[in-house]
Amino acid sequence: MTRRLPPGGLDPLTEAGHEIFEPGGDRSSTHDELVAAAPQADAIVCLLTDRIDEPVLAAGGSRLKVLATVAVGHDNIDLTAAAAHRVVVCNVPGVNDETVADTAFLLILAASRRVWEAEAGLRARRWPGWDVDQYLGRDVHGAVLGIVGFGSIGQAVARRATGFGMEVLHHTRTDTGLVGWRGDLDRLLAESDIVTLHVPLTQETRHLIDARRLALMKRDAVLVNTSRGPVVDEEALAAALEDGTIFAAGLDVYEREPEVHPRLLRAPNTVLYPHIGSASVATRTRMVRVAAENARAVLAGEPPKNPVTGG
Ligand code: GLV
Repeated sequence: MTRRLPPGGLDPLTEAGHEIFEPGGDRSSTHDELVAAAPQADAIVCLLTDRIDEPVLAAGGSRLKVLATVAVGHDNIDLTAAAAHRVVVCNVPGVNDETVADTAFLLILAASRRVWEAEAGLRARRWPGWDVDQYLGRDVHGAVLGIVGFGSIGQAVARRATGFGMEVLHHTRTDTGLVGWRGDLDRLLAESDIVTLHVPLTQETRHLIDARRLALMKRDAVLVNTSRGPVVDEEALAAALEDGTIFAAGLDVYEREPEVHPRLLRAPNTVLYPHIGSASVATRTRMVRVAAENARAVLAGEPPKNPVTGG
C-alpha cells in the first residue's frame, strides 16, 4: 500500500494470506519511498496522487505483478512502462459513479445559486437581512445541461438532471444513438446553460475546455468539473470568470493539485472543492476493497475484474 488505507478494505488480500506493508502515519509515500519499497512488493495498491512511472516500475523488477489503483482515473500511471515491465494495471470503474454524480450536482446547484458567496457573506456578518435583489443566481430546474463524456458517471448525472426537470444533452465522439447526443462539442457548449465534464484525462482531453471553447458558451453559463483538472485551461477559465464570458464555475479538481490557481481563488462566482468527488465513507471503502480484490485476483493467477492494461 502506498498509504495506510481504511479498515476492512484490504480484507480480500489479508484473507488470501498476503502480507500487507503500509507506511505509517497519515500521508502517502513519497516517490523516493515508492522506488525504495517497490522491490519487496508483488502488488502495489496505489492512489491517484502517487506518480507511478518508469523508476517505480523498474524498481519493482520481475517480482511486481500488479498495480491496483484506488481510483477510476489512471492518468498518474505510465501504462506504457507498466506494459513493458509486464505489470497488470487495474482501476475501480463503476464503484464511485453515484457519489461523484452527487458531487457534480452539488457543484451544479452551488455554482448556479451562488451558494458559496451567500454563505461567506453571512458568516462574515455582512448579511443585512433579506433583500429582493440579493445573491440572485440561475435556475437549475428547466436549464439545459450539457454532459461532456457519457460514461457511467455522466449517465448518473443525467439521471439526476431528469429529476430536476432539466433538458439533457451529451457529447461523446461516437454516436450513442440516444436523444440529446451532440457529436460536435462546440455545438453542445453553445446550446447548454450548464456544462459538466466527465471525461478521462488523456492527450486528447488536456485543455479540452480552453479560451476558444469558453467563448462559445452562453454568458450566463455555468461550468462544472469533477473529472481531472487539466481538462480545463485554468488560466483561460479564470479570465472567463473575471470578464463575464461565463457566469460561474464549480470545480472539484485542479491542474496542479493541491495548488489552486490564485486567480481562481479570487475569481467571482466560483465554488471550489478539494477533490472530494468520491469522498463518502461507503464509496471510499468499496473503492479500496475492489482495488484489493483486483490485486488478489492477479496474484492468484485469475483474470482481474477491472484490468486497464495487461489483464
Ligand atoms: C477520483 O478522482 C478517481 O479517479 O477515482
